[in-house]
Amino acid sequence: MIKNAIPLKIAGIGYSVPDTIVTNNDLTKLYETSDEWIYTRTGIKERRVVSGNQDAVDLGFEAAKKALDKSGIKPEDIDMIIAASSAPPRLYPTIGCLVQAKLGITTHIPAFDITAACTGLIYALSIARGFIASGMYKNILLVATDNNSRLLDWKDRSISILFGDAAGAMVVTASDDGVDDLIALDICSDGSIGDMIEYPLSGQNCPLVAPCKERESKITMNGKEVYKFAARTVPQFVSEMVEKAGMKPGDIDYLVPHQANLRIIQAIQERLGYTDEQVVVNIEKYGNTSAASIPLALAESVEHGKLKLGTTAILCGFGAGMTYGGAIVRLRKGIC
Ligand code: UT7
Repeated sequence: MIKNAIPLKIAGIGYSVPDTIVTNNDLTKLYETSDEWIYTRTGIKERRVVSGNQDAVDLGFEAAKKALDKSGIKPEDIDMIIAASSAPPRLYPTIGCLVQAKLGITTHIPAFDITAACTGLIYALSIARGFIASGMYKNILLVATDNNSRLLDWKDRSISILFGDAAGAMVVTASDDGVDDLIALDICSDGSIGDMIEYPLSGQNCPLVAPCKERESKITMNGKEVYKFAARTVPQFVSEMVEKAGMKPGDIDYLVPHQANLRIIQAIQERLGYTDEQVVVNIEKYGNTSAASIPLALAESVEHGKLKLGTTAILCGFGAGMTYGGAIVRLRKGIC
């Protein structure tokens, strides 16, 4: 990894989830399924969903407030907002701009969204690292928030069982003590297999030209292929990232993986030889919350005392694109 000119400090993290819980048993009202089928294949028992007009911007704002509060950095001192989302309530104005407005940031800082699906937080962290390392910006707010429940086809039992809504946020800044909290970071993608998970926007060509094939706007996924891709690629990628950093899995305290499927998490855990105590798992309560999944797992596990601060962790994820990525991070005391 390129040595950063200005090191990065993770100053604060936070999360937010909607209050409404939909259990596996609730889903039996929508289609033929069972708690047993869903739980044994995925590890999911329930998920949170937005209700009424609440959306990913509200969730992102709540998570951002918490992360800012912990960081000790005032909203008006934020220099840039990067929002990561694959299920935003609208394409524009972006979540970044709307969170800027909700936080009352009146300085005209850059605010924008990126889409790297469930790897979004890692991609956002990588972009922030570049801006901080170059000295261009100092304080950056990352908001990872997803509104999957609005984009799902709730008649499709093979996909709608998997996802939930949530937000996570992270405030990063130029490190003032020379210590870099990003020990390693790597992001990757393989666009040649992008059709494994898709969310097309519906639309029509100009009536003066040949029409395009009409497509419905809903998430489609080849679950089996995604499973095989993740189980094959991610454990290998994570162990190589650790090795490239000149470390051994035993040098890092925790694994905070994307919460997509318990069996994929277990495959990464086995590869690294981690104990259950070292692996953060909350998929049972939230399902797959896409971009929010990693920061939600991280912040919630600190709040519940499972993950102790003053430690190090591997964050890793994969998702539509197909994207994947990971980071080995230092988790300072007081960030959550
Ligand atoms: O962030 C990335 C997100 N995506 C993932 O991580 C997805 C990874 N993939 C998976 O987790 C698994 O592929 C699933 C959990 C989605 C599905 O498990 P599977 O073992 O691959 O099941 P399947 O899709 O092959 O379906 C097996 C059977 C089918 O019936 P038949 O054709 O064998 O008669 C399905 O119709 O299970 C049926 N089925 C269900 N039955 C009860 C599919 N969904 C359900 C359901 N309840 N919800």
